[in-house]
Amino acid sequence: MEDLRIGVIGIGLRSSLALAAHRPGRGSVVTALCDIDPVALKQQAAVFDARILTEDYRELLRRDDVDAVIVMTPDDTHERIAIDCLRAGKPVYLEKPLAITVEGCDAILRAARDTGTRLYVGHNMRHMGVVRLMRDIIQKGVIGEPKTVWVRHFVSYGGDYYFKDWHADRTRTTGLLLQKAAHDLDVIHWLAGGYTSRVNAFGDLMVYGDLPRRAPETPRPEGWLKEFDWPPTARRDLHHVIDVEDVSVMNMRLDNGVIAAYQQCHFSPDYVRNYTVIGTEGRLENFGDGPGDTVKVWNTGPTGYRDDCDIAYRVPQATGSHGGADVQIIAEFCRFVREGGVTDTSPVAARMSVAAGYMATMSLRDGGAPYDVPALDPDLAAYFDAGQP
Ligand SMILES: NC(=O)c1ccc[n+]([C@@H]2O[C@H](COP(=O)([O-])OP(=O)(O)OC[C@H]3O[C@@H](n4cnc5c(N)ncnc54)[C@H](O)[C@@H]3O)[C@@H](O)[C@H]2O)c1
Repeated sequence: MEDLRIGVIGIGLRSSLALAAHRPGRGSVVTALCDIDPVALKQQAAVFDARILTEDYRELLRRDDVDAVIVMTPDDTHERIAIDCLRAGKPVYLEKPLAITVEGCDAILRAARDTGTRLYVGHNMRHMGVVRLMRDIIQKGVIGEPKTVWVRHFVSYGGDYYFKDWHADRTRTTGLLLQKAAHDLDVIHWLAGGYTSRVNAFGDLMVYGDLPRRAPETPRPEGWLKEFDWPPTARRDLHHVIDVEDVSVMNMRLDNGVIAAYQQCHFSPDYVRNYTVIGTEGRLENFGDGPGDTVKVWNTGPTGYRDDCDIAYRVPQATGSHGGADVQIIAEFCRFVREGGVTDTSPVAARMSVAAGYMATMSLRDGGAPYDVPALDPDLAAYFDAGQP
């Protein structure tokens, strides 16, 4: 089997995914890099030994020796770049979120359907051990039929990752209830077996609005990733535009009747996701979300508080970035490019997570008023549900 020759567009912080795709002789190899930042391009060229380097992604699209592309540029660029790649006939791995508006998502899905070019969206949490374990427990019926899902996301390094660059600017992301939450909204949909149809939300910019900012056009400071400041109010050198929320709380009704809640805070001391799913015959909860951590199930009762659950499951060991998810998702992408067919990630689900996060952000900025989530065109949904034939 020849290696799939991959071109990477946008090689910034997410370069860990490109490393997972660079497996010369084992199925895929990164042969081309594109970034508008010549410094990033030069640095990464040495890492990948890529022969094709360009600052203009359209140059990659004209080449016959690039079989597929991975798009890892900032969220507001996804729509334009993905549509151009699809029109050029290059199978696309597009990082989440699919786009920053519902219309943007639908335009990408239509371009994939109309051109017949394969589209894959990088919801790597579907390949995380803890998520697959929770889904497996639910699918085996261990907690009965899932009825309500509650997720808390504690983002310890939020001030560093999300308030020092484009993430903090709503024109580039819509907001963090879309940009960051798209992962968990997708997982909520996957665990619950439905899509959000109605939302409301509250949120605010509580901590990072008043801290010292950098001048426009100045780069992220040296060491900004390794040396997280504590407490959060000690953070400096924030982005010059900050108009997204650092706390958000969202309620959802799903189209199958499930009710869900999602909460996100960017100034917590610890970084972890905590899920609770309650079904008709039990409850599960994860304690830690990485390899070796635990998902507990209580499915006898009623009782008072019990630390000792009925069944404790261990999240399987895995290596590589994002708890081993990046290696798994690249393997699925390469298989999909070669053979097509249905995958664990789904462009329709990616669209529905953006739509839920987008409408929740509208609610949050409108005093918490409830909003309906626009449905996806059923013809488009059918095309993707059939595995993009
Ligand atoms: N799935 C995950 O776990 C995960 C994790 C991190 C980031 N992401 C996603 O990956 C994407 C990139 O995030 P990041 O943190 O690496 O951002 P980043 O800002 O660190 O890197 C983005 C890179 O894209 C380049 N770029 C911008 N516009 C471009 C263009 N038109 N053509 C070519 N290059 C361009 C920038 O110069 C930069 O080097 C985002 O969409 C983000 O949501 C996903």
